[in-house]
Amino acid sequence: MSDFKDKDILDGAQFTREELEHIINIAADMRERLENNHSLDLLRGYVLGALFFEPSTRTRLSFEAAMNRLGGSVVGFASASASSTAKGESLADTIRTVDQYVDVIAMRHPKIGSAREAAEVAKAPVINGGDGAGQHPTQALLDLFTIQTERGQVDGNTIALCGDLKNGRTVHSGVELYKHYDCKLIFVAPQALQMPVEITARLREGGIPVEETSDLVAAMAEADVLYMTRIQKERFDDPAEYERLKGSYVLTREMVERIKPDLTVMHPLPRVDEINTDVDDLPGAAYFRQMQNGMYTRMALIGLITGTI
Ligand code: NCD
Repeated sequence: MSDFKDKDILDGAQFTREELEHIINIAADMRERLENNHSLDLLRGYVLGALFFEPSTRTRLSFEAAMNRLGGSVVGFASASASSTAKGESLADTIRTVDQYVDVIAMRHPKIGSAREAAEVAKAPVINGGDGAGQHPTQALLDLFTIQTERGQVDGNTIALCGDLKNGRTVHSGVELYKHYDCKLIFVAPQALQMPVEITARLREGGIPVEETSDLVAAMAEADVLYMTRIQKERFDDPAEYERLKGSYVLTREMVERIKPDLTVMHPLPRVDEINTDVDDLPGAAYFRQMQNGMYTRMALIGLITGTI
């Protein structure tokens, strides 16, 4: 069965379908248990280190809230400038330090592969909360949980991923989960921001139906779930290229009502302008519920890797 005790959570590709189902079931259980209680007393005395070298609102706060609601506590920092990184300390030494104090490390860092580097030096399990344009597995897990909750099941859905698929770590992790389900994937992006070819090629080799297009309207007509993403400004070397590509896609209420009224609309957030606020109160607009699912999913993960759930 799924034994997560002491395991690092680094990459969407590390999970089996059985493990994904297990995590989702525990997340659902966390949600149910929190409906009747403000907090649970499962991790009393445990400490989470939340190390955020890159900006974050949802990921950091939902990790902290998850740990607090499990009865544990949190230490950490919310920016590299607030840590000894600003004095020139290496990532490895910062991790060795925090490792003396905590039971689990959740971290976000601008460099691809940084969470894996941290996991190599830490005794405590490391959870990757985003490594540059690499991976963001906990977001992908909460996205999967959201699809399951919103659509009743993951199998059978056509999922359109739209926006900056080149630099977006949430979609890089997401496809590694969706490939275990009977889902068709549509990648909607301007040519310059399409999903990296090695990812698309690997999915196709694995027999996953993948379509690539730049036409959002056509993709919406086919999709059950539309996962919008932000153009990742901070990953562009050339500001002019960002200016050219920003605003490539803007989803409006009129589009949803005309093309696919029962579309489930998701977004990892933050949004810039890719989902108009008039979409927010449509019944299929799931992105605020999705955020809440983040806390339950992170509770499940922390519980599983500490062996307390
Ligand atoms: C995402 C991220 O940091 O990759 N945000 C998040 O964790 N919810 C998406 C983004 O920043 O565009």
